[in-house]
Amino acid sequence: MKILAFAGSISSDSVNKKLIEHVVTYFPEDQVEILDLNEYEMPLFSSDAEREIGTHPLAQKFADKIDASDLLIISLAEYNSSYTAAFKNIWDWFSRIKGRKHFGEKPMMVMATAPGPGGGRNVVEMFVTRALLTGSEVLETFILPKYNETFKEGEGIIDNEKKFEIEEKVNLVRHSMKNILGN
Ligand SMILES: Cc1cc2nc3c(=O)[nH]c(=O)nc-3n(C[C@H](O)[C@H](O)[C@H](O)COP(=O)(O)O)c2cc1C
Repeated sequence: MKILAFAGSISSDSVNKKLIEHVVTYFPEDQVEILDLNEYEMPLFSSDAEREIGTHPLAQKFADKIDASDLLIISLAEYNSSYTAAFKNIWDWFSRIKGRKHFGEKPMMVMATAPGPGGGRNVVEMFVTRALLTGSEVLETFILPKYNETFKEGEGIIDNEKKFEIEEKVNLVRHSMKNILGN
């Protein structure tokens, strides 16, 4: 199976990038591509920018990556209970491609982590509500609060309950994907 994974953050020390890098290790037999949103920097979306540029080539490239995948694994950074501007801008651009179901109706696993006790719960809730309206199927969600206490670089998730939860959810995702892909 082809997995496209990315963190909704452009910070070089992004904790969500670290969570993504860890979670994809649970899919050793699959073809995984991790995108860096820094490579999809576009002007802030506006109707003027759209009139001038049309479909931005980077938005098309991002959409093509989604379309070529079987499963999306996303870990969203939460800024002020919402998306980072970097992620939202990319989404705004590719959502304007004519006739496009934003995330191409691809099954998804949606995660978040943050140093705070909420762990990015708000942005995941917001994303799931919105993504369902544009045809996405969210198979599982996973929130890792208190990142600095629950995650260790090189080891991964060190909180036992959360480790159990991610392993269970990865298995559920794998099972769902078997049904979806028919193998
Ligand atoms: C502008 C700003 C707003 C933030 N707002 C929230 C928030 O609403 N909820 C939260 O849990 N953390 C919040 N944080 C802390 C982020 O979760 C933290 O910076 C985290 O490392 C961001 O994810 P990243 O490292 O993957 O970029 C905020 C941080 C910044 C810089």
